Amino acid sequence: MKMKFDVITIFPGIFHAYLGESILKRALMKGLVEINIHNLRDYAYDKHRTVDDYPYGGGAGMVMKPDPFFAAVEALCGDPSQRRVIMLSPAGKKFDHHMAVELSKENRRIIFLCGRYEAIDERVRTALADDEVSIGDYVLTGGELPALVIIDAVTRLIPGVLGDGQSAEVESFSWGILDYPHYTRPPVFRGLQVPEALLSGNHADIRKWRRKEALRRTLLRRPELLEDSRLSDEDRTLIQEIKEDSL
Ligand code: ADE
Repeated sequence: MKMKFDVITIFPGIFHAYLGESILKRALMKGLVEINIHNLRDYAYDKHRTVDDYPYGGGAGMVMKPDPFFAAVEALCGDPSQRRVIMLSPAGKKFDHHMAVELSKENRRIIFLCGRYEAIDERVRTALADDEVSIGDYVLTGGELPALVIIDAVTRLIPGVLGDGQSAEVESFSWGILDYPHYTRPPVFRGLQVPEALLSGNHADIRKWRRKEALRRTLLRRPELLEDSRLSDEDRTLIQEIKEDSL
């Protein structure tokens, strides 16, 4: 089934450049994914097509009005069982690889709501959004980049989007731990050597070297990832070797 994304934003132009290049462009052209960008102002029905207003209770900044968001979502997909509305906000659940995998299996339309200004009226969160998602603990000027980040991460997991070789790696190798170091020619650059194992042509040695270096990096930089990653017996042996290497 084709994955369908909709984005509701007051800045549709932000999306076209990114979606018009490289892997996402190809996925769209192949029909593996459909992404439609909608201008929130088209669903603001007053004379000035107003999407924001002053906050009740006072204070700095403007609040995005609820009615254009409701009108937009209902115009795109009137049946709540057929849609999954994701509001982008720094207060949401943190996006990660697991959420990307889960979203890549979603059969409903995924509709992203991008906020700008100070905030979105709370009733959008409580009565329209199914999920509230953050891409990290920092505050951006709007939800457009977060929507693109999620669309990008989810789309590359859809079967057929990456080449066969790349997608096999996504499945089996890079899951849950950091990537191994990569090298290309020349074999010696400014005195810096490419590791011997990679030059050997021995596939078993290369595979083992890569797995070990991926585990080494993870152990050094993000040890918490190894706690919930499913490690094989070989991985445990390699981790033992890494610990002995550093003694
Ligand atoms: N809007 C502003 N900052 C954000 C973040 N970190 N994640 C999601 N939406 C946002």
